Amino acid sequence: MHGSTTLAGDKSLAHRAALLAGLANGESCIDNYLVAGVTQALLGALTAVSVPWKLEGKRLVVQGRGFSGLTAAEEALDCGNSATTLRLLAGALAAAGLPAVLDGSAGLRRRPMGRIVTPLQMMGVDIQATEGHAPLTLARSERPLRSLAYRLPVASAQVKSCLLLAGLAAEGSTRLVEPGPSRDHTERMLRSLGISVTSRQIVENDEILYETQLESPLRLELPPFSITLPGDISSAAFLIVAALITPGSEIEIRRVCLNPTRTGIIDALREMGAQIEVHQAGEQHGEPVGNLLVRYSRLHGTRVEGPLVVRMIDEFPAFTIAAAYAEGVTTVSQAEELRLKESDRIGALCSQLRLLGAKVDETPDGFVLHGEGGLEGGGVAAHGDHRLAMALAVAGLAAAKPVAVSGAEAFSESFPDFDAVLRRLGGCIDLEPEPG
Ligand code: S3P
Repeated sequence: MHGSTTLAGDKSLAHRAALLAGLANGESCIDNYLVAGVTQALLGALTAVSVPWKLEGKRLVVQGRGFSGLTAAEEALDCGNSATTLRLLAGALAAAGLPAVLDGSAGLRRRPMGRIVTPLQMMGVDIQATEGHAPLTLARSERPLRSLAYRLPVASAQVKSCLLLAGLAAEGSTRLVEPGPSRDHTERMLRSLGISVTSRQIVENDEILYETQLESPLRLELPPFSITLPGDISSAAFLIVAALITPGSEIEIRRVCLNPTRTGIIDALREMGAQIEVHQAGEQHGEPVGNLLVRYSRLHGTRVEGPLVVRMIDEFPAFTIAAAYAEGVTTVSQAEELRLKESDRIGALCSQLRLLGAKVDETPDGFVLHGEGGLEGGGVAAHGDHRLAMALAVAGLAAAKPVAVSGAEAFSESFPDFDAVLRRLGGCIDLEPEPG
């Protein structure tokens, strides 16, 4: 694989930018917006609560009318497959005091929602889940929300962001403590809009924890803004692994978001012997951005646990393919959260990799993979999971026999031009309609 590419805007940043633009007072402009299944869900929800927006190619223009300009949706808000949409919207609508029903696909209804419902209720929000899951029902409220001091049981940027958005309408501060370094895009974006949010590492009873504190603004007003989104490192991960396992490759991926809470995949792959050069190119709207140069590399096994798991939480599908092409044992532990993503990523990755010839043992919180420097190939399924679809397709680039991925179209949820970008860089990939 050879060549140089840029990527569509980061998914997490796209969600936050569109939502904050919808809450701001005035016209905001978001360039290099990610036009994909998951972000479509958020835009649909903005329309339903009376926020006008228009897409001009990859530029999203949003006419925010402030929190008080939102109106209650007539029907349930359909968040599709996007847990980020549902959890962030819940916090924003709680701040606006608007009634709503938040729902989504069968896959989204499987994801745990008690993790936002409990702390939102502690803030005085009248919100109910359906046996811990979507649909969620929010009641109308005129009261300001209560300040919150809360320790999240698991590190989660979606939960943290939901509570920070709700905290914008609280009478006092919102103090959140997490057991791991979840992505801090909401904090950075709020800070760039003049809201006081601090983040720091603390030690309690010999445990390293991550504290985020939001001071409630005196007036619930956000200024409009213009932003250009850097490329998504979670999408870049598939191209990085593709180049690492395809002999003779050298590719460049330009203008990628290199926020340190997201770059765990680079650290883990380098630890395995990957040749990845990182060229920092400064900051863009509070987020570090840079170019990546990746060369084919002979990889060896590694161990992933602790904070590194959180810093690469979405990259395990891509990472596992690199581990299968490495020589030696790769052990992943303390990663039980992966079972609660778009699919049970521990179970699905292990079962599908076995079908491709990998020797892998599943554990409750991860897996042990005995890398033999490659895969045989065969037929696998994406389990409705965009990242599984892309990882399995990448696995086929260097396998002894072709890999056929059923349900591969799921990739358009987060990286709609995945096949086109891969092909342009020299990867051999065909899309065929499934029989029937
Ligand atoms: C996201 C946070 C992560 C990640 C998801 C996007 C976000 O979830 O898996 O794809 O944009 O906040 P958690 O932080 O809840 O694990």
